[in-house]
Amino acid sequence: MPLIQNKALQRTLGGSFLERWFVHAFSGVQLFVLGFHKDPVKMRMLRNVRGERRSLVTGAEQFLIHSIASSMRHMEGDIAEVGVYAGSTAKMICEAKGDRRFHICDTFEGLPEPTDEDGGVEKKGSFACDLDSIKRYLRNYPNLEYHVGFCPDSIRGKLDDTKFCFVHLDVDLYSSTKQCLEYFFPRMVPGGILVSHDYSVLQGVRQAFGEFTADRREQVIELPTTQCMLVKGA
Ligand SMILES: C[S@@+](CC[C@H](N)C(=O)[O-])C[C@H]1O[C@@H](n2cnc3c(N)ncnc32)[C@H](O)[C@@H]1O
Repeated sequence: MPLIQNKALQRTLGGSFLERWFVHAFSGVQLFVLGFHKDPVKMRMLRNVRGERRSLVTGAEQFLIHSIASSMRHMEGDIAEVGVYAGSTAKMICEAKGDRRFHICDTFEGLPEPTDEDGGVEKKGSFACDLDSIKRYLRNYPNLEYHVGFCPDSIRGKLDDTKFCFVHLDVDLYSSTKQCLEYFFPRMVPGGILVSHDYSVLQGVRQAFGEFTADRREQVIELPTTQCMLVKGA
């Protein structure tokens, strides 16, 4: 088992100052290397966002979220993120999305109750964040809709007829991941992309994708970061 999947290590470091410091330092190196061959304007924006808000998403992961959201510019459908915390990845998406409608979903009270599938590494209430502070942080971007509460319950009945071209999941838990996959994926347009954080490091997230894709044509594409993605078939 890779070191980073060690449960004792995850329980000790998960969300701690040490983990954030490690991700920040590692991201500095990633962004420095990417700076040799990527657009300097985009790289400056990514670096600025890192300095603005706490996050456990690395520089390469930020880069990928921004690139995929940008690639949806001419696709039909809305964008959604579940798992916002302090708003870092939401800002990435805002920077890329143009005028498209963006659904921002979180309990804003932190993680829901973990289940056995999560292996005891997450704690209820971790990553709580203040909705007003997120709204202030993203106030300059158009067409944002906030959905407060456990997703997908918070959007059921409201967005049932909505189509999505890009969905970003960063929910850390088995049950949240499974329920969000079941809600969003059938509503995605052909060619739409769903990305999840933590696929290679959190067992609950990995299990949810495994079960969801077991009988599907679309299979998980594992990325060299902790992320994975699913591309919606025609
Ligand atoms: C690791 S944080 C997200 C980090 C964020 N993407 C960033 O930019 O750093 C996980 C978030 O998922 C949220 N969450 C988990 N399951 C959820 C669910 N079913 N519905 C709504 N929010 C959920 C938690 O409240 C928490 O804010």
